[in-house]
Amino acid sequence: MRMLGSGSSTPSTVLSNADLEQLVETNDEWIVARTGIRRRHILGPGETLTHHCTLAGQRALEMAGVDAKDVDLILLATSSPDDSLGSACAVQAELGAKSAAAYDLTAACSGFVMSTVTATQFLRTGVYKNILVIGADALSRYIDWRDRSTCILFGDGAGAVLLQRDDREGEDSLLGFDMHSDGHGQKHLHAGFMGCGNKAFSEQPSSAAAFGNMYMNGSEVFKFAVRAVPRVVEASLKKAGLSVADLDWLVLHQANQRILTAAADRLGVPAEKVVSNVAEYGNTSAASIPLVLDESVRQGLIKPGDILGMAGFGAGLSWAGAILRWG
Ligand SMILES: *[C@@H]1O[C@H](CO)[C@@H](O)[C@H](O)[C@H]1NC(C)=O
Ligand SMILES: *[C@@H]1O[C@H](CO)[C@@H](O)[C@H](O)[C@H]1NC(C)=O
Repeated sequence: MRMLGSGSSTPSTVLSNADLEQLVETNDEWIVARTGIRRRHILGPGETLTHHCTLAGQRALEMAGVDAKDVDLILLATSSPDDSLGSACAVQAELGAKSAAAYDLTAACSGFVMSTVTATQFLRTGVYKNILVIGADALSRYIDWRDRSTCILFGDGAGAVLLQRDDREGEDSLLGFDMHSDGHGQKHLHAGFMGCGNKAFSEQPSSAAAFGNMYMNGSEVFKFAVRAVPRVVEASLKKAGLSVADLDWLVLHQANQRILTAAADRLGVPAEKVVSNVAEYGNTSAASIPLVLDESVRQGLIKPGDILGMAGFGAGLSWAGAILRWG
């Protein structure tokens, strides 16, 4: 497997910390000190996540020099699709990827890493040649805008990578991975189905089924993240036969600058090797890794041959690491 191209797309509607000061009792200084987040991009009225997935996908295909018609599979990592029955097929249609099978994969912020590992299995077995992996979320849809502990954290966006089969000896770019889940931690982070008045059967006609707002126990999630991320990166490195010193970049889920810094410190990775765009986008869940990857590639920071230490972590609870070679 080789990672040949990346792309991303984010909504143009920007919500700054100053905007949030109008909604809830908070302020810019407090938000920046706690999270490192200054702005987030959110879907405007009528704007679809599907469209941002398509744009991100097109850009990844363009960079890779692969035609949409030659894509065999589209994996869409998302927890907030436009259609709760799945949005990958709508992306396939918009892209014109006629021969691709397409489906959604839900694993919150671990979704992109888990999808990349999943896609690689299809490439290694030789059944597919080109797979588009997209990470996208619009968590602004699940936010209670009166809850100042969560509404400051999340933003919307989409990122994508094109993975291609490469059977040559020693050329596989997924060097090692490690994935975990712990459903006992679901209570700390969720947006559960509320039904139609929470009843399985009701004599009342119902016009809308709904999911609840995002609930997050911030301190539990923080503790989990700073413990799980270094472990999963170290375990992935071990499987790759590499050490922390071999990493050119740490490309972590962009949840919160304090988590990025604490995880890098524990791993012993210097700050200049940790890519970050959390100040601009906030926590975009499954989109955050491909988004920061794409920006770093286009800025010329991440270059072909660079070794990346990736880790996604979040709801499930779930956490996943992968050591990948770019380009
Ligand atoms: C978060 O979890 C801890 C430990 O389970 C609990 O003591 C605390 O009350 C929770 N916080 C909130 C805001 O629910
Ligand atoms: C970011 O949001 C996702 C989706 O709710 C969640 O899984 C993840 O834990 C969040 N990250 C943090 C540390 O806030």
